[in-house]
Amino acid sequence: MKLLALSVLVLLCGLLEVQAEGYNGYKVYQVTPKTLQQADILHQLHEDPEFDFFQDAKLLGQPMSIMASPRVQQYFETTLANLTHEGLDYTVTTEDVQKVLDEEYADFVRRNASRQAGARAVFDEYISHAEVLAYLERLEREHPEIVRLESIGRSTEGRDLLLIHIGSGRPNAPTIFIDAGIHAREWIATPSALYIISQLVENPAHARLHQNVNWAIIPAINPDGYEFSRSSVLNRLWRKTRRPNQGSTCIGTDPNRNFGYQWNTGGASTNPCSDIYAGPEPFSEPETDAIRRYFINHYTEIKLYVTIHSYGNYILYPWGFTSELPRDALHLQTVAEAAARPIEAASTLGSRYTIGSSTNVLYEASGGSDDWTKGAIGVDLSYCFELPGGGSFGFNPPVAMIRPIVEETFEGFIALGEYIASLY
Ligand code: ARG
Ligand code: ZN
Repeated sequence: MKLLALSVLVLLCGLLEVQAEGYNGYKVYQVTPKTLQQADILHQLHEDPEFDFFQDAKLLGQPMSIMASPRVQQYFETTLANLTHEGLDYTVTTEDVQKVLDEEYADFVRRNASRQAGARAVFDEYISHAEVLAYLERLEREHPEIVRLESIGRSTEGRDLLLIHIGSGRPNAPTIFIDAGIHAREWIATPSALYIISQLVENPAHARLHQNVNWAIIPAINPDGYEFSRSSVLNRLWRKTRRPNQGSTCIGTDPNRNFGYQWNTGGASTNPCSDIYAGPEPFSEPETDAIRRYFINHYTEIKLYVTIHSYGNYILYPWGFTSELPRDALHLQTVAEAAARPIEAASTLGSRYTIGSSTNVLYEASGGSDDWTKGAIGVDLSYCFELPGGGSFGFNPPVAMIRPIVEETFEGFIALGEYIASLY
């Protein structure tokens, strides 16, 4: 009898453990390496699923933000302590990640509850994927002469991957392709894309931007991950897709390690439990495969590609798989600077952008969408925007920051639109 009670208890605890995932006891460290060797030692931990690099940096003297599970903290702190003798700096910026998330999420739940369903303002809240789709559908209804929606596929859980075309129909106009939200927890990415869309469609002052350029924008390319990160405070920091992995209990692939150009050649993991898991093969995810199929059919028109992420204020260009620069790096750098200048000039947040190739300013990471659009498809101008951070972990700017961020970011896209229009 006692034995039975005990085994029931053990069973219950086992179940509870599965339920109570989250980030209890996880710590965040801010580490500033001072030598290349120190940076290398830290980068070796990148593929380890016990670590999550919120903010990496290759430039020496720039702080990195690294989350470590309780299982590896002792080992990690010993490693760091040894490196402090050689000048490395580190502090623990969060003692218990889940505690901080719980506090922040209480506010999110309160606001959501006090708001009427369907009455949510697009840029005053982090809206649901269903609300994103409803907004796009409204634009198509109200502006059929310049807007056309196209479903480019469905996510693993069956959510619609909607692309919005905005253009006045000039024949042979060049296309700018933008996607946002490929990483689930980077919530600010989707409203930034929606703001570009709303300004193009609803603000006549910007009509000229779609008279000479076509825009193809997917504001929410990883809806399963996004909805999962909204579903519970335990899941707030989810990054990947939500497709189950065969032979593993860990779910999801990093969609930005899943593109088929120099796939899995560095800065990606083969461990399904890692946050930078490259997937079982290139384009294993329906979300990345939908982008692939779209580009295969439309590559001749697309002259500029931007993927919107957060955070860190970077405009990155290829390559992410090697520290070598593309032949046209100077062109990529110049156009990025032309986009960054008006953002910085308009910024009420004091934003300053760092511009460079992914590998050189951030870290090596193969299988990114920007490398694939340039390397495999041949889109010369290919960028990854890392928007400003906010909130306790950078991925959750408070709702009051949504407007300042999306408004300043749009200034960069005006510059890009004008530049592309001037070329064709
Ligand atoms: N933070 C982004 C990521 O880790 C940066 C991607 C930059 N591009 C690249 N091809 N590595 O996915
Ligand atoms: Zn990202």
